[in-house]
Amino acid sequence: DKGRHRHFMAKEIHEQPSAVGRVLARYIGADRSRVVSPAEAVDWSAASRVLLIGCGTASFAAHVAKYWFEQLAGIPCELDIASEFRYREAPLDGREVAIFVSQSGETADTLAALRHVAGRVAATLGIVNVTESSIAREVDTVLPILAGPEIGVASTKAFTCMLATLATTAILAGRVRRRLDAAREAALLGEMLSLPRLMAETLRLETEIAEAAAEIAPARDVLYLGRGRLFPIALEGALKLKEISYIHAEGYASGELKHGPIALIDDGVPVVVTAPSEPLFSKTVSNMQEVLARGARVVLLTDAAGAEAAGSEASIRIVLPNIGPEMAPILYSLPVQLLAYHAALARGTDVDQPRNLAKSVTVE
Ligand code: M6R
Repeated sequence: DKGRHRHFMAKEIHEQPSAVGRVLARYIGADRSRVVSPAEAVDWSAASRVLLIGCGTASFAAHVAKYWFEQLAGIPCELDIASEFRYREAPLDGREVAIFVSQSGETADTLAALRHVAGRVAATLGIVNVTESSIAREVDTVLPILAGPEIGVASTKAFTCMLATLATTAILAGRVRRRLDAAREAALLGEMLSLPRLMAETLRLETEIAEAAAEIAPARDVLYLGRGRLFPIALEGALKLKEISYIHAEGYASGELKHGPIALIDDGVPVVVTAPSEPLFSKTVSNMQEVLARGARVVLLTDAAGAEAAGSEASIRIVLPNIGPEMAPILYSLPVQLLAYHAALARGTDVDQPRNLAKSVTVE
């Protein structure tokens, strides 16, 4: 049932404040200052590395988690697309914690990657939506993402629920490894607990975001840029746009712009920049100047301070609520989903059943 929405995708985008709220209620203790999770069964202190593995949107959630595990828990991470990992003969020392991220829990490559490491690493963790799935059955520890059924082929609420689940796991690992003290853990969880409210505020920008999407819809190519934890959100924004609007889009780390993609820029290539204000924001502003000088239109997704610092450098500015840098990727997922959704509506494509795609990819 789509309720008041035209598409399951729209319904699922709008369910995100409550879906992420469920994740927080499950993995944050009643005192609201400590993670409580089945991931406590993992010996995080002894872990040599975290392996993060998934496909598509799940791999982008894993990509954000790499920043969290490294910065909050000080654990070296490797990020792999499951179809690569299963064949690349990565050397293992037996002390790795391998995390498999999958909405369906049935993605063939992710399941094969899990079977490839089972018994050869210290622990396997599954971040899954469907708890009656093969991956959920075969991992040592399951962390349900509690998104509820996701019908739209383009994943939306499963992505932010994966992120919220992974963030609590990294915070837990940071505590166990004495990288985060109780005050810092409580502060990070406080930020997370504000997410449902900030996500609801962000969804109220939909009309503005739809106007920006109207600029993107006629384009043949679109670039998405982000740095740090927002780089995977640029990748996810580009994938979402490709999947449902069939517009060619690529996501790049902002710092890569000069190393090739800038050759594509002309007045027909809109550039979407996901950039909350942060210490490196001035570098992002100079990236925008470079593309504007070549005639591109820039859609800047930022906060109030970022909008101020960018001045008139962006053609279109969407101002999101303030959020700390760690949890920003969760909030900035929403506008890139809405941009893709409204660009697809403008193009008249089949949003919930895009051509050539299946909800669950159970063959290689
Ligand atoms: O069920 P999974 O999370 O394992 O699926 C992985 C990908 O197939 C999936 O995220 C795909 O990229 C979606 N169509 C993204 O919108």
